[in-house]
Amino acid sequence: MLKMENVTYIYEDKTVALHNVSIDLSKGKKIGIVGSNGAGKSTLFMNFLGLLKPTKGKIHYKENELKYDKNTLSDLRKNVGIVFQDPDKQIFFSNVYDDIAFALKNLKYNDEEIKKRVESAMFKTNICDLKNKPVHFLSYGQKKNVSIAGTVAMDQKLIFFDEPTAGLDYSSRENIKNILNDLTENENKTIVVSSHDMNFIYEMCDYIYVLNKGNILDDGETQEIFLKKEILDEASLEEPFLIKAHKYLNKPIYKTERELFNIN
Ligand SMILES: Nc1ncnc2c1ncn2[C@@H]1O[C@H](COP(=O)(O)OP(=O)(O)OP(=O)(O)O)[C@@H](O)[C@H]1O
Ligand SMILES: [Mg+2]
Repeated sequence: MLKMENVTYIYEDKTVALHNVSIDLSKGKKIGIVGSNGAGKSTLFMNFLGLLKPTKGKIHYKENELKYDKNTLSDLRKNVGIVFQDPDKQIFFSNVYDDIAFALKNLKYNDEEIKKRVESAMFKTNICDLKNKPVHFLSYGQKKNVSIAGTVAMDQKLIFFDEPTAGLDYSSRENIKNILNDLTENENKTIVVSSHDMNFIYEMCDYIYVLNKGNILDDGETQEIFLKKEILDEASLEEPFLIKAHKYLNKPIYKTERELFNIN
């Protein structure tokens, strides 16, 4: 549904955040965008969402060049969602229920449909007990879940998750993994995930793009990319634990820690 062709993005202060980047989001169902701080991941997502407009190059949406008129962008919003890196950029309303319902109200869904979607999104993200809680009392991890619920409720086909696990503890990270797996496996969504957490990306994603200082260094199937130490080094990324176990302990390549330790 979305592709980027030779996109360069230059901020007003002349920072070249993306340089000649081409990405095809039909290559996988769970696409990982990896790169160190400042590599250009968030800028890339905002270009795909039509929130920033490439300085050079093109975005293709549904086989056409993306136009920035109201109708095209509103169609894009219906089909493509984002969970921002910073939950405070996403949460506007005073209580959790209203916040999740906000975008649905804007799209003029009826009250019954809104209630159904908000409750289902709260259930999926494990935040039913926060329903009437004022947003400003929530912890960072709870806010992150509320921002995910707000996007899940929109039921878009393609969803970008910018650093979904940053700042979260073990059980919140596991919860996010379950939510993302459920979206792709049971609801047939495509997800695009950025992260510095290579273990998370290795387990979650089926196709990877490596971004370094605004340039795509390489792309390919997850294991193929993570076996290339020289690419990881150049992009200042850590080898995932399961790749280390394979290379240095001669274990087969496992996709999850559970498989390695034979835990059901
Ligand atoms: N509004 C802005 N004006 C000028 N430069 C910016 C702006 N936003 C981002 N940049 C610069 O663009 C580059 C890419 O930033 P971006 O936030 O896309 O990286 P990132 O990969 O998402 O980093 P992180 O992992 O820290 O979230 C950085 O050099 C950053 O300083
Ligand atoms: Mg970022």
